[in-house]
Amino acid sequence: MVSGEVLSDTLGISRVSIWKHIRKLQALGYRIDSTPKGYRLIDSPDAPFPWEFPGREGRMHYMPEVTSTMAVARDMARKGCPHLTVVVADRQTQGRGRLKRRWLSDQGGLYFTTVLRPEIPIALTPRLNFLASLVLARTVQQLFHIDARVKWPNDILVKGKKLAGMLSEMEAEADLVNFVNIGIGVNVNNDPTDKEPGATSLKNLGGKSFPRKKLLAGFLDAFEKRLDPLSLDTVISEWKRYTVTLNQPVRVVTRRETTEGIAVDLDDTGALILRLPDGTQKKIVSGDCFQ
Ligand code: BTN
Repeated sequence: MVSGEVLSDTLGISRVSIWKHIRKLQALGYRIDSTPKGYRLIDSPDAPFPWEFPGREGRMHYMPEVTSTMAVARDMARKGCPHLTVVVADRQTQGRGRLKRRWLSDQGGLYFTTVLRPEIPIALTPRLNFLASLVLARTVQQLFHIDARVKWPNDILVKGKKLAGMLSEMEAEADLVNFVNIGIGVNVNNDPTDKEPGATSLKNLGGKSFPRKKLLAGFLDAFEKRLDPLSLDTVISEWKRYTVTLNQPVRVVTRRETTEGIAVDLDDTGALILRLPDGTQKKIVSGDCFQ
């Protein structure tokens, strides 16, 4: 319990202003008991309001509904928003997946795009995606004790079902990267299985709701720590320790062809190396991997 007087002294605003702020927070879903002795926070909503991310609130942009966080983040990036800006939404009306697919974005999931302005050559930018998927799998494991794994190129799977997907977009001039935007969709408390039988969510796996705020904060903390100082040398080898793709028979579909083989390795750019039935090897830079 905190008294109105203490709040008013600490924040340097009148008790009437405090009361108005409390009313606003209550309208946003915060459960705050208000008695003559003061206020008590009972519960806060699982909404990623910027002030829930101390230290990065100026870079967090939360919107209940957007077309796609990729579109909003691209606009912001073109207008010069800072490195590590995050756009997060509760729902997307035109959520985008890889290879021009749709990404179902119902209430309950976590949908965000982070704007990066890395000082690295264009050729190294794919490693940022591998870093993001690796960090996300690790964060899910550490926070929730769920055995999340990475599937080439950047999916997160649990027990063979897709928990999260990742999409990236880059703009550069000559060899100078202007921005790399990484968009991540995680099925948290939504149930994607009706429309996507190969998908799952944290709630489906754990039989209870999971805190999206905690997941986002945990991911951003770990990801930002890895970006500063930026060292991408070990990313691919670390990623390999978390993958379910290597040493498995796979079918990889690209825009031009379908290739079947054993996934034997990744090269240092993240391209997948397949061993074909005739014993030769083939490198695949981008595509859809079925296993
Ligand atoms: C995939 O696996 O196909 C990638 C899915 C990426 C979805 C995320 S949700 C947040 C961001 N906004 C989008 O429209 N897409 C990405």
